[in-house]
Amino acid sequence: MNEKIIAGNFKSNLNRKQTSDYLSKLSLLKSKHKIFIFPSISSMPSNDYDNITIGTQNCYPAASGAFTGEITLEHLEELNINTILIGHSERRNLFFESDKVCAEKFAFFKERDFCIFYCIGEDLATRKAKKERDFLSRQLDFIDTNYSKLVIAYEPIWAIGTGVNASLEQIGECMEFLKSRTNAAIIYGGSVNENNSSEILDITDGILVGSASLDINKFHQILRSKE
Ligand code: PGA
Repeated sequence: MNEKIIAGNFKSNLNRKQTSDYLSKLSLLKSKHKIFIFPSISSMPSNDYDNITIGTQNCYPAASGAFTGEITLEHLEELNINTILIGHSERRNLFFESDKVCAEKFAFFKERDFCIFYCIGEDLATRKAKKERDFLSRQLDFIDTNYSKLVIAYEPIWAIGTGVNASLEQIGECMEFLKSRTNAAIIYGGSVNENNSSEILDITDGILVGSASLDINKFHQILRSKE
């Protein structure tokens, strides 16, 4: 199997010490896949591992300034971080980040040559109404889908943190549709774990793993699923 993108999104879990211990162990593991870890902001180390790319879960699109509670580009530069997650459904829903806000972040970090993981995905009502393609297409209309350092993370909202992953058929259909819209790598996220990762990797360019990435043993199993 070709090299895949295997990304762990720690969200607001694992403190500084736990993250550092985790990354020390992970850095010793051999994998042919491209590993990305998005730690919580206060646990973010420098991006200087050989086999792991550290990315940020969020950043305000400015060099520095009066943006209470946010970090800015200067903080990332100090840590040599040039990978960012934009548009995660938790940021869209809990922190009211609209498509327009996500697009502004995208434009800012594209300008600075970042690798951008751009998350899109429909809610359950949209899926039930069979309108997911229109929905995903509209989300993509806000960004430059030809950007060479773009990774699209397809994460149906109803599958995130619920233990209900999309079926292979549903994932496959969306992959096909998204491939018709962009040449970017397309990964899947939503209740991926050590038991379903292998078959999902068969039909995607990679996976974005939330809760199952918090346990290094599970994440290791996921990494090994296609060795
Ligand atoms: P989950 O989260 O694996 O816990 O469903 C995925 C994500 O939010 O990226």
